[in-house]
Amino acid sequence: MRGISNSSGKDGRNRCSKTEVQKFNNSGSLKKGSLRVVGIGPGGSEHITKRAISAIDKAEVIVGYTTYIELLEEGLKKGKEVISTGMMKEIERCKIAIEKAKQGKSTAIVSGGDPGIYGMAGLILELLSLEDLIDKINLEIIPGVPALCAASALLGAPIMHDFVSISLSDLMTPWELIKKRIILALEGDFVIVLYNPSSKKRKRKLKEAIELIREKREDKVPVGIVKDATREGEEIIITDIRSIDPEVVDMRTILIIGNSTTKIHDGFMITPRGYEDKYESFEKFKALRKKL
Ligand SMILES: C[S@@+](CC[C@H](N)C(=O)[O-])C[C@H]1O[C@@H](n2cnc3c(N)ncnc32)[C@H](O)[C@@H]1O
Repeated sequence: MRGISNSSGKDGRNRCSKTEVQKFNNSGSLKKGSLRVVGIGPGGSEHITKRAISAIDKAEVIVGYTTYIELLEEGLKKGKEVISTGMMKEIERCKIAIEKAKQGKSTAIVSGGDPGIYGMAGLILELLSLEDLIDKINLEIIPGVPALCAASALLGAPIMHDFVSISLSDLMTPWELIKKRIILALEGDFVIVLYNPSSKKRKRKLKEAIELIREKREDKVPVGIVKDATREGEEIIITDIRSIDPEVVDMRTILIIGNSTTKIHDGFMITPRGYEDKYESFEKFKALRKKL
């Protein structure tokens, strides 16, 4: 049940719980359509959740970026209105999905990975709030496995300690701010996950980011590069910051830069959580018992 701690929202409007919205809808006063923002995971069909499949199954209309629509199994799309749009058409996609829901259709808008991580959930909520529709539509946001988790699992355990995620796309965030975030993350010794690291027009940004990282971190700091995690063409590279080949990185790739303690062991990247001290006392304890 959704609620807020005070009786009215920031804008002075009362907010009601989902159950109340549902009741309201059943009374016929508002639209009966539903809008599900569905995270479909990193791509591999075994990485989509049951809840996501069920949401897509229930939908009369599926809207999404062409690549994500293509990743869906044919059976899930059969008999449905499927609307796919290309890159940079996020606003158009969301508007179409909202319109279909307003028309009373059960609608699913699919988003790669998790919809709340550089995905469609935020834009849908922003557009609904602009139209004052948030409380008037049956809205559900369904989480998905983010690319950072898929990549991390393929690399080993690189994000076992505090990490930050930074998108290198400067389409909507000024490059100066992105650089500042990288610098602050380096100062905090965070593991750094780099999303949207490169594209045909943006190759220089990755090189600049690597230069910044090299200024603050040792040359041997481990870096994991994962392309097309869990889907066709998957590639996993474990290297160090000095040896990254920017040419292997594209917009289907994610990078994980280790912190000062991250190490590589037998082809796995490990960022220690800090259990070593515990192991030491455990070992001492075992040795002591043997002596008794
Ligand atoms: C717009 S963001 C979408 C992120 C997504 N919502 C998530 O939760 O991971 C697109 C970026 O995610 C990363 N990405 C998404 N899927 C990926 C995959 N299967 N393998 C590697 N990187 C991926 C790439 O960095 C890509 O440029």
